[in-house]
Amino acid sequence: MIPTSFNLSGKLVLAPMAGFTDSVFRIICKRFGAAMVFTDLISARAITYKNKKTFEMMEFSEEERPIGIQLCGSDPDVMAEAAIIVAENFRPDVIDLNFGCPVKKVVNKNEGSALLKDISLMSKITSRVVNAVDIPVSAKIRSGWDKESEDPVSVVNMLQSCGVSFVTIHPRTRAQGYKGAANWDWIRQVKENTSIPVIGNGDVLKYQDAARMFQQTGCDAVMIGRGALGNPWIFKDMAAPQQDGSIEQSDVTEKCFAAMTHLKQSIEKYGEYSGIRRMRKHLILYTHNLPKSRELRKHLIEAKSMKDVDGVFREYVKGIG
Ligand SMILES: Cc1cc2nc3c(=O)[nH]c(=O)nc-3n(C[C@H](O)[C@H](O)[C@H](O)COP(=O)(O)O)c2cc1C
Repeated sequence: MIPTSFNLSGKLVLAPMAGFTDSVFRIICKRFGAAMVFTDLISARAITYKNKKTFEMMEFSEEERPIGIQLCGSDPDVMAEAAIIVAENFRPDVIDLNFGCPVKKVVNKNEGSALLKDISLMSKITSRVVNAVDIPVSAKIRSGWDKESEDPVSVVNMLQSCGVSFVTIHPRTRAQGYKGAANWDWIRQVKENTSIPVIGNGDVLKYQDAARMFQQTGCDAVMIGRGALGNPWIFKDMAAPQQDGSIEQSDVTEKCFAAMTHLKQSIEKYGEYSGIRRMRKHLILYTHNLPKSRELRKHLIEAKSMKDVDGVFREYVKGIG
C-alpha cells in the first residue's frame, strides 16, 4: 500500500532525466498518473544569457503541473538571477536545485554533486535562491561525494534551515555513479531526522519497489527515473506482474501502441525529422524485453517517417500474433 500525505495528487513522481524528460514524455507520464514532473537540469548561466534553446527547454503546458524546473550552477548570484528569470517567465510550481549530477562536465565546473564537497557554498546558493523568489524551492541531492564524506542527514538539515520546501535524495555517492544498489537506509535516516517532506529515489523499477521504498523509509513520495523509460505506465497502479516476469500478449500490443502515441506527440511538437530522431532512444526502450526485440529495433532505427514506424509496428504485431 502506498501511503498518502504530502500535498500531491499521488505518490509517484517522474525524475528529471536529461535528454529524456521533455514536455512530450512528461505529459505521457502525467497521463499515466505521475503526481509531479521535473524538467532536465538547466544551466543557470544559460538562463541568464537568455539562451533561446534553454528557454525552450523550460516551456511546459498546464497539464504538466505540478512541475519543477531544475537549475544547475555554482555561483549564488547567477543562481538567484536565473531563479528570478524562471519565476517571472515560467511560474513553475517549484524551482529545484541540482546538487546531485555526477557528470564530469558538470562537476568540473563545481556544479551538481561537486557541491556536496562544499556545503558552505551549497548553503549560500540555496539561501540566495530561496530569498530571491516567491515560489517554493526544493533540492535534489545524492547521499554524498564519496563514502568517507557521506552525510545526507546534515546536508538536508542545512537545506531545511535555508528554507527549501522539500528534498529528493538519491542515496548513491558521486563516486558510485550508478553502481551498486541505492542505499535506501539513508532515505529513512533523512526522513526521521528532518521535518520537511522527503522524496526517495533510486532503483524503483516497478510499482512493488515503490511500495517497498515507502515501507522501508517512510518517505513522502517516490521519484522514478530509469524505471519509467519505455515504461511510463509504471505510474498507474499496476496489477501484479507474471511470476516469471514474462509479458502477456496484450502488453506487447499496449507497448507498441504507447510507443506510437509517444512518437505521434513527438512529431507534433518537433516535426517529423526531429521528432523521429528524438524518439529513437525511447523506441529502443519501449521495445526492451519484447519478443524478437532485436529485429524490431533494427527496423525501427531504419524508419524515417511516421508511416515507416507505423508499418514496422503493424508487421511486428501481426508477426507475433
Ligand atoms: C539519462 C539520465 C539523465 C539524468 N538527468 C538528470 C537530471 O537532469 N537532473 C537530475 O537531478 N538527475 C538526473 N538523473 C538522475 C535521475 O533523476 C535519478 O536520480 C537516478 O536515475 C536514480 O533514479 P532511478 O534509479 O529511478 O533511475 C538522470 C539519470 C539518467 C539515467
